[in-house]
Amino acid sequence: MKETLEQIRREALAALEGAGSAQELETLRVQYLGKKGELTAVLKQMGKLSPEERPVMGQLANEVREALTASLARRQQELEAAGLEARLAAEAVDVTIPGRRPALGHKHPMSIALDELKEIFIGMGFQIAEGPEVELAEYNFTKLNTDEGHPAREWGDTFYMREDSSLLLRTQTSPMQVRTMEQQRPPIRVIAPGRVYRKDEVDATHSPMFHQVEGLVVDRGITMADLKGTLNTFVEALYGKGTKTRFRPHHFPFTEPSCEVDVQCHACGGAGCRVCKGEGWIELLGAGMVHPKVLQGVGIDTEIYSGFAFGIGVERMAMRRFSITDLRLIFENDMRFLSQF
Ligand code: DAH
Repeated sequence: MKETLEQIRREALAALEGAGSAQELETLRVQYLGKKGELTAVLKQMGKLSPEERPVMGQLANEVREALTASLARRQQELEAAGLEARLAAEAVDVTIPGRRPALGHKHPMSIALDELKEIFIGMGFQIAEGPEVELAEYNFTKLNTDEGHPAREWGDTFYMREDSSLLLRTQTSPMQVRTMEQQRPPIRVIAPGRVYRKDEVDATHSPMFHQVEGLVVDRGITMADLKGTLNTFVEALYGKGTKTRFRPHHFPFTEPSCEVDVQCHACGGAGCRVCKGEGWIELLGAGMVHPKVLQGVGIDTEIYSGFAFGIGVERMAMRRFSITDLRLIFENDMRFLSQF
């Protein structure tokens, strides 16, 4: 029995020492110290020993058990420590590695120009309205005093969506004048920014899709003086105090009288140069006093109310603001261009 115990001690200690995982350790514990283990099997035979031998063997057996238990615990700790080391090494973060700069986006130049424009009109108490890009001809033309047969309604200029010319991609934001007045009674002070479409060939100053901002003010006693004051305030906010404007007579079907508004050329101060094509002035927008027919069409009493309206070409404004010489750059979305803003 002594030999058996010594052998178990030798073999078990060697095996425990060599165990490479918690799993292996558990198998060894069961093999030697478990209820059906080798050491337990020996202890069960104690009864057969003589009374003199029994305490001696008992003591030896205890020593072996303690040795195995201690070895098992030590090996367990070693494996846990090694496991932790390995995990720390694997999950290590090197805080000295230079960071990767996140790629930050920014606004498109058209959005910058549009936001500035909205900001200026919001500051003057205007509200912002939005309307459909697919519009009824009724709103794009008829209700704007542009009856059937008017040259502006020709198929060559407009993207129609139906054979009978009743539905189209809006050619202007002006239908928002009518939509606004149908939903809201005076006093009205709104701007309506958005896309408009025309059958134009693409070149440095034309695109079949572009942006306009429509403006509409309707109230008691609104005159041309209010129109001039509002637009002069807008132009000075946009291009700086003292910027001169020029109001030229013009014709639009839905305003009477109508005008076009030019700003004095920023490049030459009015003397005439390449930027303004020798004119000294740059065209900025169309405007006028809302035609009585348009007001009456939405049931507004022209004896009490009057109004003014204007339509700004946003691309033209943005091109001037950022000194962009070719309209196509705005829509091509070439990063070399966009990253400059
Ligand atoms: N809708 C016109 C255009 O597309 C611009 C315009 C002119 C708008 C006069 C207006 C206005 O509101 O009063 O050319």
